[in-house]
Amino acid sequence: MRSLKNILVSGGSGFIGCNFIRTLLEKTPGFTGRIVNLDALTYAGNPASLADVEAAYGKTAHPGVNAADSTGIRYFFEKGDICDRSLVESLFRTYDIDTVVHFAAESHVDRSILGPEAFIKTNVMGTFTLLDTARQCWADGSGAMRQDALFHHISTDEVYGSLGETGRFTETTPCDPRSPYSASKASSDHLAMAYYHTYGLPVTLSNCSNNYGPCQFPEKLIPLMILNMLEGKPLPVYGDGKNIRDWVYVEDHNRAVWTVMQKGECGGKYNIGGENEWENIRLLYTLIDVVSGKAGLDPAKVRETVHFVRDRPGHDRRYAIDCSKIKRELGWERQVTFEEGLGKTVDWYLSNAAWIDGIRSGEYLDWVKKNYGDRA
Ligand code: NAD
Ligand code: DAU
Repeated sequence: MRSLKNILVSGGSGFIGCNFIRTLLEKTPGFTGRIVNLDALTYAGNPASLADVEAAYGKTAHPGVNAADSTGIRYFFEKGDICDRSLVESLFRTYDIDTVVHFAAESHVDRSILGPEAFIKTNVMGTFTLLDTARQCWADGSGAMRQDALFHHISTDEVYGSLGETGRFTETTPCDPRSPYSASKASSDHLAMAYYHTYGLPVTLSNCSNNYGPCQFPEKLIPLMILNMLEGKPLPVYGDGKNIRDWVYVEDHNRAVWTVMQKGECGGKYNIGGENEWENIRLLYTLIDVVSGKAGLDPAKVRETVHFVRDRPGHDRRYAIDCSKIKRELGWERQVTFEEGLGKTVDWYLSNAAWIDGIRSGEYLDWVKKNYGDRA
């Protein structure tokens, strides 16, 4: 079991990263170290998602102190770009970083089709910058790496490409990415493994299926559909609606990430998934029932707003993850059923109107600009 002390979390203000930080600080008694969240606060990064964590564990809980060695502070926020090498280097030194968990990315497939460049910059160059800075800062002078260090790279099942009606992705399935997003993530996976093999950087890697849960930006299927239902807007289904995704609750994903970080083999790759495949259209009808039940809507009326639209170019047909390796070797198991997870997710969106208003109006970006300057 590794003892991880000073963790640099990249992209900790995004959907999965903010849930990871919350779980680690609030629900993981075995972790007593510090977290440094490096996030550029792009459109997808929202400091409001961690305002209460900042208040409980960050500088705001300890007014007047701001040095990295301030005793008792366990959460530090640093606004910046993972491509900014001198910033990344200074964070490694200031906080004596021994662990990186790398979530930061451009993450939305549709945006990658409209504008791939940002995906190459952040997902490829940004990952390279983090890996190379870790290599430099963790080398002990004789060429060996710091013993207690770990770089965990977060990736996606999309790197494996698209499945037909049968089969599942295993850790040995060859990469076959189809979108600029998945191609950029596959590149970053190869870079991470190359740093392990070439330089002995202690790298672990996980490839996960579709996450859902609190704080997900409402461009992704589940939150988009929930908010459109609540506002009586059309529910846009791409193509014939028969594409299949495997859904996992974000806390289950993050517990798996933590498990790999503590016990995974260096150079090891671990698939994470919910063993929970759904056709988009079937998922949508289920979600309509959940939202209608909780929000007092008429499900038949909501169903009338389902609207088939032009398909996503290169739309992968089916993803399915074989996660038997992490279950067998590291003892991880999914804990949240889909029914339970969807219920919690809908409840969260129903009771966090201020977060949603901030996203919808773009107000949070004004707030970011005022408090942290222009986006990195
Ligand atoms: P997200 O888009 O919600 O959050 C990404 C975060 O990264 C944001 O806070 C953003 O501000 C930050 N960021 C972007 N560019 C940056 C840069 N150059 N420098 C610093 N910060 C930057 O993404 P997410 O859904 O939370 O995904 C997190 C990671 O998990 C990504 O690597 C993604 O590929 C991977 N992943 C996501 C899913 C999913 O279903 N969402 C599934 C598997 C893997
Ligand atoms: O599989 C893991 C990946 O899951 C992650 O790596 C990505 O970061 C994450 O965005 C997600 O990618 P998808 O493209 O699968 O997620 P998205 O929510 O965009 O779409 C899910 C499915 O729903 C997909 O088949 C496209 C479809 N869809 C999506 C939207 C936004 C619709 O039919 N209508 C929509 O409006």
